[in-house]
Amino acid sequence: MHQSFSFFIVFSFLFISAISSETETETLSVRSDGDQLIRQVVDGDGELRLGAEHHFSLFKRRFGKSYGSQEEHDYRFKVFKANIRRAKRHQKLDPSAAHGVTQFSDLTASEFRRTYLGLRGLRLPSDANKAPILPTDDLPADFDWRDRGAVTPPKNQGSCGSCWSFSTTGALEGAHFLATGELISLSEQQLVDCDHECDPDEPGSCDSGCNGGLMNSAFEYTLKAGGLMTEKDYPYTGTDRGTCKFDKTKIAASVANFSVISLNEDQIAANLVNNGPLAVAINAVYMQTYVSGVSCPYICSKRLDHGVLLVGYGSAGYAPVRMKEKPYWIIKNSWGENWGENGFYKICRGRNICGVDSMVSTVAAVHTTFQQ
Ligand SMILES: *[C@@H]1O[C@H](CO)[C@@H](O)[C@H](O)[C@H]1NC(C)=O
Repeated sequence: MHQSFSFFIVFSFLFISAISSETETETLSVRSDGDQLIRQVVDGDGELRLGAEHHFSLFKRRFGKSYGSQEEHDYRFKVFKANIRRAKRHQKLDPSAAHGVTQFSDLTASEFRRTYLGLRGLRLPSDANKAPILPTDDLPADFDWRDRGAVTPPKNQGSCGSCWSFSTTGALEGAHFLATGELISLSEQQLVDCDHECDPDEPGSCDSGCNGGLMNSAFEYTLKAGGLMTEKDYPYTGTDRGTCKFDKTKIAASVANFSVISLNEDQIAANLVNNGPLAVAINAVYMQTYVSGVSCPYICSKRLDHGVLLVGYGSAGYAPVRMKEKPYWIIKNSWGENWGENGFYKICRGRNICGVDSMVSTVAAVHTTFQQ
């Protein structure tokens, strides 16, 4: 169905209204790094009316893109235009978020999935520990571990399907902070290079660096290995051609135990508040075009393909524009600080949107003191 609509984008704390139109013209707004607002006007047939080439060159400059040949350039331009149309479709299906140009606008959906996601194994191991049921009566209305010092700044996985390792380190960084009061950035590269833990239920399905992995297997590896080194001692390279350089004498944080949380949003919230940030899996299809706001698509697959970190939640409220704000989860992603809301994503709570409630794990860290 074709309908006119209006939406808004969040620009730091500023809300800028875009115009609703009676005609077939719709406006796609995207946030730019400076204070300039790029507007992309798309007509009813989905063709860029105002200088697609111009917008493509802005995109290339903003994200430092260059292509090896004219052929490649022309192909990427085609993909870019298709992604603008796709962002427009996402905008209609997901009106409480803003969708537009991102650093991934020159990639096809399958290139994006292959290169920037990386969740392998869609089932939880059948022998996984179940988290104990926690009381949920006194949960705060809003909660954010970023305000309490348990979250390191967003990192960047680069062109490597290692999302699962960032979800794992994020959860252990938080648990280690709760156990010791210290926030230490932990090594994804150790997991990428050294963790080849396999899923006992799915022989042949093992953590495999840039080709994907699973957070629960990574917790299992970390438990067996003794712990993770720091980011500083074992820095991220974003490739999986290296050998394992794990040094047991440099362990900075260790897993005491980990467990999976039932598909119940109150239990997820209670575990988040009590145990720290949680490793979660999600379907990332809307994240390729996400710019800001609370993502709450009418339709979203629950096929899990991305590992991220749940760090907080917000309650329902009314934004200073006419759209009702929905209760949401706050998600830390691993695509750098230039993606989404300074590296974070908001997705609505309440109906397991994009599978966000389906695979949630909590980890506890061993109390240790780490001397640098
Ligand atoms: C997990 O480890 C933590 C920290 O050592 C401990 O307090 C907690 O009771 C353990 N949980 C389970 C389910 O064993």
